[in-house]
Amino acid sequence: MKIQVQALFIVTIVFLSAALPQKSMAQTTSSKTATGGRERLLMDFDWHFAFGNANDPAKDFDPGGSYFSYLAKAGNGAGAAAADFDDSSWRVVNLPHDWAVALPFDERGSASHGYKAIGENFPASSVGWYRKTFSIPAADLGKHITVEFDGVFRDSQVWVNGFYLGRESSGYSGFSYDLTGYLNYGGENTMAVRVDASLEEGWFYEGAGIYRHVWLVKTAPLHVAKWGTFVMTKLQTNSADVTAQATVKNDSTNDASFEIRETILNADGKSLASGELKNLALKAGASGEFSSMLAVSHPKLWSLETPYLHKLVTTIISEGKVVDRYETPFGIRTLRWDANEGFFLNGKRVELKGTCDHQDAAGVGVAVPDALNFFRVEQLKKMGSNAIRTSHNPPAPELLDACDRLGMLVMDENREYGINPQELDELKDLILRDRNHPCVAIWSLGNEEWNIESNVKGARVTQTMQTFAQRLDPTRRFTVAISGGWGYGSSTVIDVMGFNYFTHGNNDEYHQQFPNKPSVATEDASTFSTRGIYVEDRAHQHLTAYDTNKPDWGVTAEESWTHYAARSYVAGLFQWTGFDYRGEETPFGWPAISSQFGILDTCGFPKNNFYYYQAWWSGKPVLHLFPHWNWPGKEGQDIDVWVFSNCEEVELFLNGRSLGRKTMPKNSHLEWNVKYAPGTLLARGYTGGKEILTDKVETTGVPEKIQLTPHHQTIKADGEDVAIITAQVNDAQQRRVPDATNEITFEISGPGKIIGVGNGDPSSHEPDQYIESVNSLPLTGWRSKTMDNATNRPETAFDFDDSSWQTAFSNSNEDGGTQPTIYRGSFELPQKASADLYSFSLRDLGREQSVYLNGQLLAKYVPREHSRQEINLVADILRPGKNVVAIVVIPRQNGRGNRASDESRKNFASPGQIRVTTPAGDWKRSLFSGLAQVLVQSTGQPGEIKLTAKSPGVADDVLKIQ
Ligand code: GAL
Repeated sequence: MKIQVQALFIVTIVFLSAALPQKSMAQTTSSKTATGGRERLLMDFDWHFAFGNANDPAKDFDPGGSYFSYLAKAGNGAGAAAADFDDSSWRVVNLPHDWAVALPFDERGSASHGYKAIGENFPASSVGWYRKTFSIPAADLGKHITVEFDGVFRDSQVWVNGFYLGRESSGYSGFSYDLTGYLNYGGENTMAVRVDASLEEGWFYEGAGIYRHVWLVKTAPLHVAKWGTFVMTKLQTNSADVTAQATVKNDSTNDASFEIRETILNADGKSLASGELKNLALKAGASGEFSSMLAVSHPKLWSLETPYLHKLVTTIISEGKVVDRYETPFGIRTLRWDANEGFFLNGKRVELKGTCDHQDAAGVGVAVPDALNFFRVEQLKKMGSNAIRTSHNPPAPELLDACDRLGMLVMDENREYGINPQELDELKDLILRDRNHPCVAIWSLGNEEWNIESNVKGARVTQTMQTFAQRLDPTRRFTVAISGGWGYGSSTVIDVMGFNYFTHGNNDEYHQQFPNKPSVATEDASTFSTRGIYVEDRAHQHLTAYDTNKPDWGVTAEESWTHYAARSYVAGLFQWTGFDYRGEETPFGWPAISSQFGILDTCGFPKNNFYYYQAWWSGKPVLHLFPHWNWPGKEGQDIDVWVFSNCEEVELFLNGRSLGRKTMPKNSHLEWNVKYAPGTLLARGYTGGKEILTDKVETTGVPEKIQLTPHHQTIKADGEDVAIITAQVNDAQQRRVPDATNEITFEISGPGKIIGVGNGDPSSHEPDQYIESVNSLPLTGWRSKTMDNATNRPETAFDFDDSSWQTAFSNSNEDGGTQPTIYRGSFELPQKASADLYSFSLRDLGREQSVYLNGQLLAKYVPREHSRQEINLVADILRPGKNVVAIVVIPRQNGRGNRASDESRKNFASPGQIRVTTPAGDWKRSLFSGLAQVLVQSTGQPGEIKLTAKSPGVADDVLKIQ
């Protein structure tokens, strides 16, 4: 049942003045009393992970393997979906996690996904299982508790305590499940997630796993629904009208009466306006939408230059108590799209100088830490870009947070194009999730739907999606990226025309045909270049970084920008792409593994075109000279020298001799042909006849010393924050050697860990991650025998004959009895790699247990409460081939072994597993065109992190981060 209540409250207003405070990016929770009990807890840490199997249920921990499966009986998740499945031999990981990035490259892999060994040809590495144990205090009984997943690639199924919660096929939508009824209050709980990345949704690298945050959300039964607020602002002459809409859910079994208080806070937390809705009621199980009108006088506007954020605080009061407090950051600003003049923000024309971007980054794949998303937006801002298109899917919520805070507009893009219920639900989820972000300037319904975009089906589907979406957000407009058939199909009905590549049609003709339709270049350029390379090297799949390379449908940066800069009826453009991304290795295939469309590489290191855009987009004086000047053996030969600049004139000098002064054509560049001689190439930039900038490239000496430079000197000790560190080698005069390829090895100590390395080379097969691999060996052949006492048992000996003993652990109704019992089982040790570490992960069998390996005591009298532990299998005692584990057990007080007829434990066939850990190698990466990147993440403790970088023949560097 839906209840609509409208109330009008115009309340007092205070002047705003303060700047935006820096807010923690991985906020977990605020004080419970102030929040009415609402808690939002990050569930990123200590998940156990193992590969399942896409083809073989037995290797996939058979979640449906019990006689009555989880689909037959509630709570019957079997295998790894069972509450107490033994996951002790699984690897421990933190989220966000992308397992694909750590897989090897393989020519049989999918080209569009960067040739990773995943997908339909690789069933053993395409399914991942995650399990996490978490406790819920007894005091939480009576709360409403949900788990929220921000994004899992893809096709995930979730169980809690063996109860099946559901399936989400989208790799990009956020989704949640209600846990309230299934939790153990005052006890341990287990969540299991199966992720199947066999199928692809896109034609670009998409990663695999729980690659965004997971949250545990606790509220009162009467609470603001998920994504349950919508703030709409309307600017008047000296004030803004704010419509605060709240969806409230009553998840209790009683009818509820309540009131809602809406308060607008400025960036300092000072109240600017508030209003109350009284005498509201919701039946048990019902939800309702309630609107309040407030006003803010002389509001500070959200803009690209000053991205000022307000906050709406929605408080629900029932029976005199605050039962929920929900915060919605928002901005006050106006958006206008005009068919002849383009796009206006706060009444001012803003040319959209945008990039299209996929989500993946060097080192981490799609599991991008919040700090790295923030860094990437900052890099684009430095270039003078003011907009991002989240091609071709909903982004991580934290990317939008970064854009809100940094002042970057977003074209927020939907994934699947269509009108079936699932597709419309995905579109709805995107809009409900993101519609309060001031950065979101326009929604994109989709991209290049070749089968329908130019025909009547495209028009119908687009119209249906658009009408559906307009109801969910009447404050914004809609586009779709159309690659052809302009004037037909989708382009006839879409609200704001999206041109993909001006080579695919004629913008001007379209504009004449639809003079009342605003338009934007949703995608253009697709210029490709390799960072730091100036001589094409097809053998290594390297192109030059001059602005000259493009596919058939693409154009250079300069061609693209000059085309659209001359058409002010188009709102601006989104260049393909801001950053290189894995997959789409155009114009190459294997062994290239990454695209080269980026203006920056996968690490976020700028390529030269970055400065072309900076010159014509940023409004700041720019002078950028390239290539580098290390060309031994090319003395006397011609080298193409380019300058990107917005200076009026530029003069070039080689070793002090002028090579001529040239006038810079608008939106273009300058070129010289220079006979190479080592030394210094210097450019002087003049505006108004005065020299305002210089830039130089110098012939350097050989590498002498490594230099590590972090993007920030300190990071937060929150287990999430990341230092983004550039590695380079310098010559004796501290100059970066631009063509260096030294392999650098990294060591780390203190409360930090390396989570990824990269160098932006689009054909490098070096690993991005060095992680230990964990496997298990089955322990089989268990037999048991009861004894009078548990001391000095000869039966623990390696070659004791146990053939007359009874078979153990073969059926679920075994009872350990009241007497001490000895169990014997064995495992086969394969050809042992010397670095491998072996351990026995023991589970409790009784009150106390002692463990022997090949007759030698490893652990004595381990009490039940400590039994879930790893017992190191000392290398000296291990034998090649058969090894015997014996466990002497003193039963529990009541005489029952714990393997007795407890239904939930029926999946156990062994009291433990042998865990084989192959340690990770040293973290290392070669420099590519003189640079590499290493990502260091806080482990959560405060202190000093020390990162040491070494490479043969050059001096080390040690970086200290607090
Ligand atoms: C476009 C497409 C993008 C990307 C690009 C490469 O047609 O929309 O996703 O594939 O081509 O040039």
